[in-house]
Amino acid sequence: MDNPNKFYITTPIYYVNARPHIGHTYTTVVCDAIARRQRMMGVDTFFLTGTDEHGQKIERSAAAANCTPKEFADKVSAEFRGLWDKMKITYDDFIRTTEPRHIRGVQAMFTRLQERGYIYKGSYSGQYCVSDELYVDAVGPGAPCPECGRPTETVHEENYFFKLSALEERLLKFYAEHPDFIRPETRRNEVIAFVKSGLRDLSVSRTSFKWGIPVPGDPKHVIYVWLDALTNYMTALGFGSDDPKDQEKLKHYWPADVHMIGKEIVRFHCVYWPAFLLAADLPLPKSIVAHGWLLFEESKMSKSRGNIVRSETILDTLGQDALRYFLLREIVFGQDGSFSFDALVQRYNGDLANGLGNLSSRTLSMINRYFDGEVPYPRSSPSLNPAFVEKESALKQQAENTIQQFNEKFDRFDFSGALKELWFFIAGVDGYIAETHPWSLAEEKDPDSRAQLATVLYTAAEALRIVTALAHPIIPEATDRIWRQLGLGDITQVPLHELAWGQLQIGTKLGKVEPVFPRADKSMIERMQQMEQQRSTENEAKTTETKVEQVTGTESASASSPVQKAEGGAALPGSPAGAPAPGAPSSSPAVGERVGTTDNKITIDDFLKVELRVGQVKFAEKVKGADKLLRIEVDIGTEVRQIVAGIAKAYEPEKLIGRKVVIVANLAPRKLRGLESNGMIVAASLGEEGQPVLAGFLEDVPVGAKLK
Ligand code: MSP
Repeated sequence: MDNPNKFYITTPIYYVNARPHIGHTYTTVVCDAIARRQRMMGVDTFFLTGTDEHGQKIERSAAAANCTPKEFADKVSAEFRGLWDKMKITYDDFIRTTEPRHIRGVQAMFTRLQERGYIYKGSYSGQYCVSDELYVDAVGPGAPCPECGRPTETVHEENYFFKLSALEERLLKFYAEHPDFIRPETRRNEVIAFVKSGLRDLSVSRTSFKWGIPVPGDPKHVIYVWLDALTNYMTALGFGSDDPKDQEKLKHYWPADVHMIGKEIVRFHCVYWPAFLLAADLPLPKSIVAHGWLLFEESKMSKSRGNIVRSETILDTLGQDALRYFLLREIVFGQDGSFSFDALVQRYNGDLANGLGNLSSRTLSMINRYFDGEVPYPRSSPSLNPAFVEKESALKQQAENTIQQFNEKFDRFDFSGALKELWFFIAGVDGYIAETHPWSLAEEKDPDSRAQLATVLYTAAEALRIVTALAHPIIPEATDRIWRQLGLGDITQVPLHELAWGQLQIGTKLGKVEPVFPRADKSMIERMQQMEQQRSTENEAKTTETKVEQVTGTESASASSPVQKAEGGAALPGSPAGAPAPGAPSSSPAVGERVGTTDNKITIDDFLKVELRVGQVKFAEKVKGADKLLRIEVDIGTEVRQIVAGIAKAYEPEKLIGRKVVIVANLAPRKLRGLESNGMIVAASLGEEGQPVLAGFLEDVPVGAKLK
């Protein structure tokens, strides 16, 4: 089955419950650079990416956005694809898990595992983390997930189980026999330790939600999202299809050479995926390579911190090469790395504008000026100054070492090391030009000076050609332009594996010489920050992610539409645009009264009128005769308030005690069932039932803290 002259690389398929950001871009760019390089090496390459669209998280996000899961997935999947197209990512296929070819393939995989005796029916009762789509070891309703810290949910389900425990020994044997299967080494060690600590059977179906691929012959169950998602790597090639063309493709490209992933999904790829494949008697991928996390100015990017960086701002200002170069040069592959606009501009100016850009424009303009735009004839003759000859051969030697070092490092996924080598060489060429003074040689009219000038410029142009070819997979746009300026045609056709010194043809006619990396001034940083801020404000306004709304003390808290459920006060930002603020006057505003903005948007001043505070539940009990209401006493820092909230169906009163919640503190009091309610508790409202989920914090926050 294995074909040594092919290369199959995959990104994880991205969840559609979050819009693409620079973290997703990182993985995709790494894969794109590898795929481009493999193609230049003459290897038959297949690069797959796509979107992961099933599961409870997506079902809930869609419900909160008032659309069907499919509509929701269509929209976000198109955003991912649109971004990759804008960046000219060279993926060969983009798979969506909602496509028939995938659904059919996943069902075929399930049946195959069943037929081989690896699947049985059982029941599960315990805590489930919706965010990780995982059963976890946590005790009690709302207990935090040990993986991500988010509150878990209690579930009792009849499930199909996969006999993971039966594969422990085979997995360990496989890891031992394939030392390169998991990279880097630290991840490999973690995985081995995890498997050695004992594997439990894995639940591979769910009945608690519908948005998934039905189990063949038992459609009450949907297939576990990770079994569904992982199988994409094969369904995209045609697994599960009867078409001989698909079968041929699968045979040709499978097993994958590299599954590139982020470090947080190592277990799924390095334990579950090989276990499924071993059980199904299918070949295992050759390697799973995990990179670290991209942080924003040292902290994790997250929606709640409001520090998510989208790629578009950088694409629209410095361009895609700047982003690609930064990601591969700045981050030591395998480790966590930090992004900041400052660092981006510094790298751009230092390495691209002053480094490669400057080398290219000075070399090519001198050839234009002194040799009419034709690559000159280098001469080594006894009459040449021996010091010049020495410098030239030293540079040639450095070029050869650089090619070798660059290749070695790149192949070990040490992209920043490889680029460092290349830029060290650029500095060497700059030094060579500075020492040989071609502009002074051009002043002299004697034949030896002319020969020396020709040699210097040929040497510089040849060095530039080598740098450009090696850098192409990382910065494709600029190198394509430099290549054409060098008069060399289509850079993607360069056989990189044959790259060597001296291949530049004498007499090559240069193309039009233009700057490739104009310098960015300081104001660029501010501009990008502003653009990013504006983007995030716009996106918040039309967010597709869970909306925040208020759950008040009212029996109508679970009425039909999420917004109608809120009562008594303006809806918070994030409520669907166009929905009337419940309880708000329906008449037009009086003359002189501030109107927020058009389109039902409110101004920041309007928002600041709502006093949101962190409160802590001191006491909670059911309200007699009202099955949806709880009477809650909440400490808001300055006082303890009584609030009557319609959350009794979702929360048991005793479980709320001690919990930190978000309170609308300046709401006019009102009476419910004869009890005064003095404020509101903020919650998301899920699904058709409008089940409330209280807003909370992952970090510890002091009681009374203001939200703004
Ligand atoms: N859908 C699953 C993967 C299934 S693969 C069979 C998933 N999706 S995800 O949308 O959460 O994307 C995860 C991947 O995006 C990570 O593994 C990583 O490659 C990339 N990144 C997302 N955020 C990231 C950072 N902040 N930094 C670096 N990469 C991160 O998990």
